[in-house]
Amino acid sequence: MSQEKVITEKEIMEIPAKSCTRRKFLLGAGALATGMLTTGIVGCGTTAATDAGETAKASETAKGEVPAVPWPYKKIDVELVRKRGYENYKKGGCMYAAGNALLTTLQETVGGPWNTLPKEMFMYGAGGAYNWGTLCGALNGALLILNLAAKSHADLGNELIGWYTEFPFPSNKHEGYCEIKNQITTVANSPLCHVSVSIWANAANARINEKAKKERCAKLSGDTAARAAELLNAALEQKFVPAFKVSNEYSHCMACHQSDKSLLDNEQGKMNCIDCHDDHTKKD
Ligand code: HEC
Ligand code: HEC
Repeated sequence: MSQEKVITEKEIMEIPAKSCTRRKFLLGAGALATGMLTTGIVGCGTTAATDAGETAKASETAKGEVPAVPWPYKKIDVELVRKRGYENYKKGGCMYAAGNALLTTLQETVGGPWNTLPKEMFMYGAGGAYNWGTLCGALNGALLILNLAAKSHADLGNELIGWYTEFPFPSNKHEGYCEIKNQITTVANSPLCHVSVSIWANAANARINEKAKKERCAKLSGDTAARAAELLNAALEQKFVPAFKVSNEYSHCMACHQSDKSLLDNEQGKMNCIDCHDDHTKKD
């Protein structure tokens, strides 16, 4: 082993938050105690935060304290996020694609506490969580960032999910750089990975593990992250107006089955009921 630089506890406390997670910090402190300090701390970048707010947040995280949410937010470049989402897909699937597109852009644009999050935290969501086909990972990743970035995350998140269920994916905004252009589009009517993928694959006559489907999901990840960025930017400028409304196809179901104000209150969820149930109120 080479000569190790000895670092004092005071120096550790002063390390800016760039890439320095609480875990890494604790690892470093433990290593210090046992005299084995090496890469744990060196691995944490030392880029100084610029504005005063960021410096305050950065020192909080260096002390292992979790800054209160919502975390600082600045307007981010929607099309940059979209392209990154597309590109990230190949590295870690849909949740990583969308979540890390937003995270990386926030790290660059805002810094501070955003630098403390590891991009690997998004890995579990691929294929609707370890390929279980549940919540679309692109939504999962984007929602996590919304949750941290905005006080009104519940409204923004509801809008994002509702938008996703009705959007004809993939958008044509990737044509300038994507590998397969002009793909067929489908509306999922559902936030479920299983449904979203199956409806598209059927329409495109594609197999799940072929390149065309991966392209489609890469674009969808970029589109979903970009929509989240749009919503956050709008909220920042106090211009967010919710547009999603439960369609007439199933709003009456909810009136009787969903929420404590409904007649029966025996259903939880806002997904389109007709995907899975017949409409028993219709006589045939
Ligand atoms: C006017 C009120 C009303 C509306 C509107 C309505 N339901 Fe129902 N639904 C009922 C009642 C009452 C029952 C019977 C409850 C029971 O027998 O326990 C029922 C039963 C059901 C059941 C079977 C539950 C069970 O206990 O077996 C399902 C599933 C269901 N409804 C789904 C829907 C869906 C989907 C829609 C919209 C397309 C819908 N309902 C619209 C009142 C309504
Ligand atoms: C992704 C598929 C899916 C969607 C979407 C869905 N359900 Fe269900 N629902 C099920 C399954 C599966 C069950 C359990 C098996 C059953 O009872 O049919 C169930 C059960 C129910 C029951 C029976 C509850 C009970 O206590 O017996 C009601 C009522 C119901 N759903 C209403 C709705 C309504 C209203 C919606 C729309 C707001 C909806 N469901 C959306 C799949 C779905």
